[in-house]
Amino acid sequence: MGGVSAGDVSAGEVSADGKRLPGQTRTHVVTHLPGDGVGPEVTEVAKACLDTVAGRHGFGIEWRRCDLGGKHYLATGEVLPDPVLAELRTSDAILLGAVGTPEVPPGVLERGLLLRLRFELDLYINLRPSKLRPGVGGAVGKHSLEDLDFVIVRENTEGLYAGAGGTVHRGSHFETATEESLNTWAGVRRCVQYAAGLAAGRSGRLTLVHKTNVLTHAGDLWHRVAKDVAAEAGVELSYAHVDAACLWMVDDPARFDVIVTDNLFGDIISDLGAALTGGLGYAASGNLNPDRTGPSVFEPVHGSAPDIAGKGLANPAGAVLSSALMLTHLGEDAAAADLDAAVDAVLAAGAPASTGEWEKALLAQLGQVGGT
Ligand code: IPM
Ligand code: MN
Repeated sequence: MGGVSAGDVSAGEVSADGKRLPGQTRTHVVTHLPGDGVGPEVTEVAKACLDTVAGRHGFGIEWRRCDLGGKHYLATGEVLPDPVLAELRTSDAILLGAVGTPEVPPGVLERGLLLRLRFELDLYINLRPSKLRPGVGGAVGKHSLEDLDFVIVRENTEGLYAGAGGTVHRGSHFETATEESLNTWAGVRRCVQYAAGLAAGRSGRLTLVHKTNVLTHAGDLWHRVAKDVAAEAGVELSYAHVDAACLWMVDDPARFDVIVTDNLFGDIISDLGAALTGGLGYAASGNLNPDRTGPSVFEPVHGSAPDIAGKGLANPAGAVLSSALMLTHLGEDAAAADLDAAVDAVLAAGAPASTGEWEKALLAQLGQVGGT
């Protein structure tokens, strides 16, 4: 749609119902980037839930809106214009639905929008909880809720995603394509430091997942840094090769509490974690800038799902749980806990079949029957 230019990241409505409650002391500026496919559907539910818990916990959300993604690209040729990026930098957080439409060639939005946001905003942590919730069988069916509750801390700005490499002799039989994994001491260290801090606040157990027996250069750097950082933080470090980690995630997930790993391994094992905990519909993610030099980006992992878009069938739980991660990042722990608990309560009563049913059930749980 060409209607709203990406240049119009405008200060918008205050909260969905426009109300400010007495005693409200804080306002968080959140840019809503609905994107494509089911992205707008699931983030509308998340917004309604966020406004509800904000009202109950005495803070406000000032919503801005930014239209980027596949539809926007097809209409305008814009992926992420510099002035839009500059505007995005001024929010406290970004809630992203999903981007991607079948007509846009692979890589355009992934590299040009998602990865560019990660790099430009220095979102060096990708936080991906894998938690089995009540009533969700999960792919294996034999795990208890206590046994399957771990968090993957994925390095988010380096590794094979950094963009190093290239192609020579394209089109000939000698065409050569390389992708290089970049691992800096500082980049690995800050990632492991974040993971160790998280582990210290949970069970005190941190697992490095890598492939040190084959990727000896990067693996050695990661392992040395992880040992140093774990010792400094006073957490217990264990190590698993990525292939064995996949097996244990399925067979004995209680081994894991906080996993720290590189960018591509984290991408892959977090989808396995999603499968184990009910599927991509429940998977949440936070792309974090822990140093807070810019806004962090929160998005469900499921993508734009064009096959079910517009049918009211999308599961908004991933978007709501991503919003809970956002609230935690914004320092609103009690409100975040409410969102998390509301998802569990809805699931315990039997997972709703449609986006609308989900919204009704969530808002009822949050104490506001009937929606906004
Ligand atoms: C994810 C996605 C992205 C990634 C793609 C869309 C670039 O798979 O967030 O997990 O690989 O990081
Ligand atoms: Mn992925």
